[in-house]
Amino acid sequence: MGCPKGKILKLCENVFATFVVLACVFTLLTSISSSKLYKRTRASSARKHGVLNEAKNSFRMAMENKQDNNMNPVPTTPSIPNVVENRPDPYIDPFHQWFSERNVVKYSAQGKHPVLPETEVINNKDVCNTDPVDILIYFQTRWDHFQRRSVLRETWASSKTFKDIHIRAIFVLGRSTAKEDQVKINNENLLYHDIIQGDFIDSIANLTMKSILAMKWINENCIQAKYILKADDDMFVNIFATIEYLISQIHDKKKVVMCHAKENDTSPIERDTRSKWYVPAHVFPGRKRFPRFCSGYATLFTADLVPQLYKASFSKPYFSVDDAYLFGLLMETIKDVTFFDIQDNMTLNQKSALEEYVGNGAIEHVACNAWEDGVLEKFWRATLSKLTKWSKTHANVSVVQKSRSDIMG
Ligand SMILES: *[C@@H]1O[C@H](CO)[C@@H](O)[C@H](O)[C@H]1NC(C)=O
Ligand SMILES: *[C@@H]1O[C@H](CO)[C@@H](O)[C@H](O)[C@H]1NC(C)=O
Ligand SMILES: *[C@@H]1O[C@H](CO)[C@@H](O)[C@H](O)[C@H]1NC(C)=O
Ligand SMILES: *[C@@H]1O[C@H](CO)[C@@H](O)[C@H](O)[C@H]1NC(C)=O
Repeated sequence: MGCPKGKILKLCENVFATFVVLACVFTLLTSISSSKLYKRTRASSARKHGVLNEAKNSFRMAMENKQDNNMNPVPTTPSIPNVVENRPDPYIDPFHQWFSERNVVKYSAQGKHPVLPETEVINNKDVCNTDPVDILIYFQTRWDHFQRRSVLRETWASSKTFKDIHIRAIFVLGRSTAKEDQVKINNENLLYHDIIQGDFIDSIANLTMKSILAMKWINENCIQAKYILKADDDMFVNIFATIEYLISQIHDKKKVVMCHAKENDTSPIERDTRSKWYVPAHVFPGRKRFPRFCSGYATLFTADLVPQLYKASFSKPYFSVDDAYLFGLLMETIKDVTFFDIQDNMTLNQKSALEEYVGNGAIEHVACNAWEDGVLEKFWRATLSKLTKWSKTHANVSVVQKSRSDIMG
C-alpha cells in the first residue's frame, strides 16, 4: 500500500521517517546494552575463574602446609561418622599410642615343620629391618598375579602413604609348575624385594601353606610389627579408615582379631572328597560345622597372636581351607582371643562399594572387593580425594598430590 497524494502524503512520509529513526535508535541501544552485558558476563566468568584458581592454590598450599588444617578451603566429606572428628579442644592426636611397642616374643620352633617345606625359594628376610613396623600387610597371592601386585604396591599397600606411620607389605606365593616361569618371579623380586615364595606348588590344595608360611615369616622376620593385616590380592582396604577407626579402638587390647567373623557352628564343613574345600574326617572329627573363624578376604589382628598361631601349626592337622585353618582351627588353641565382627564394614559387592566411594556420602566400607582391572585404582583415588582431617594430617602430601594430578591430567 503506497502513500496517498497531497497533505496526507507529507504526513505519511514523516511518519515513515520517524519510524526509521526510531528503529535505528532502538537497534543502537540494543547493541550497546548487549555488548555491556557481554562484558559483564566476561568479567564475572573471569572472577569465577580467579576464585577457582585461588581455591586450587590455597588447597595446594594447605596440603603443603600440613600443620594448618583449618586453612584448607576445600570442604572435606567426613568419611565415617565417628568420635575422632568430634575431638575435644585442645585435641592431642593419640596416634603414637596406637602403635606403642607390644614386646612380642617369637616362637622358637624345635625341629621340622610337619607340612611346610623347610626352606623358601625366595625369602626377603629384611623387609622389616629398616624402621619400626606399625602395620605389616601380607597378601596371599597367586604366583602369576603380577598386575595385581603391581597395583597394590602403588596404592593402598604402599609404604609411602603416611609420613609418620610405617607400613610394610609382603606377597606370599608358591611355585609355578613350569620351571621357566620362575624367571618372571625372580625379576619382579629384583625390583621390589617383597616376595616370600614357598617351596610348594601354587595351588588351591596348598593354599593353607601360604598361611603357615606367612606366620613363620612374620614370627622370624617381623615380630616387631604391631598389627598384621591379611588380605587377598583382589581387595581394596581403606588403610586410612583402618587406622583411624579400627586400630584406634583396639590399640590397648591384646589378642584381638577384626574381621568378617563366622560364628561357631554356622559354616558347614565340606566332607565330600570331590570338593575343592574338602576337609578330611580327622580334622574336626564328628563336627558338621566349623568353629568360629574369619572369612579371610581381609583380616586385621594384633601381632601377639602370630607366635602362638605358628606354634599351633606344628600340632594341628593340615587342610586346605586356609581361613578356617588359621583363624579357626589354630586360633581356637589360643586363650582369651577377642573377635570384633566388622562384617558391616566389609563388602564383596564391588559395584555398590565403588558407588559409595566416588559418591558424596559417607564411607562405611573399609574393605571392598576390587577384582576387576582398574577398579582398585578408582577406590584409591576416591579415598585420597575425601580424606578426613586426621588422615590429612598423617598422609604423605606428595602421594595425595600425585593422585590429584593423575585425575586432573
Ligand atoms: C612420600 O611420597 C614420595 C613420592 O611418592 C616419596 O618419594 C617419599 O619417600 C614418601 N615419604 C615417605 C615418608 O614415605
Ligand atoms: C601342592 O599341591 C600339589 C597339587 O596341587 C601337590 O601335587 C603337591 O604335592 C603339593 N605340595 C607341595 C609341597 O607342592
Ligand atoms: C561350638 O559349637 C559346638 C557345637 O555346637 C560346641 O560343641 C562347642 O562347644 C562350641 N564352641 C564354643 C567355643 O562355643
Ligand atoms: C561400619 O558400619 C556401620 C554400620 O553400617 C557404620 O555405622 C560405621 O560408621 C562403619 N564404621 C566404619 C569404620 O566404617
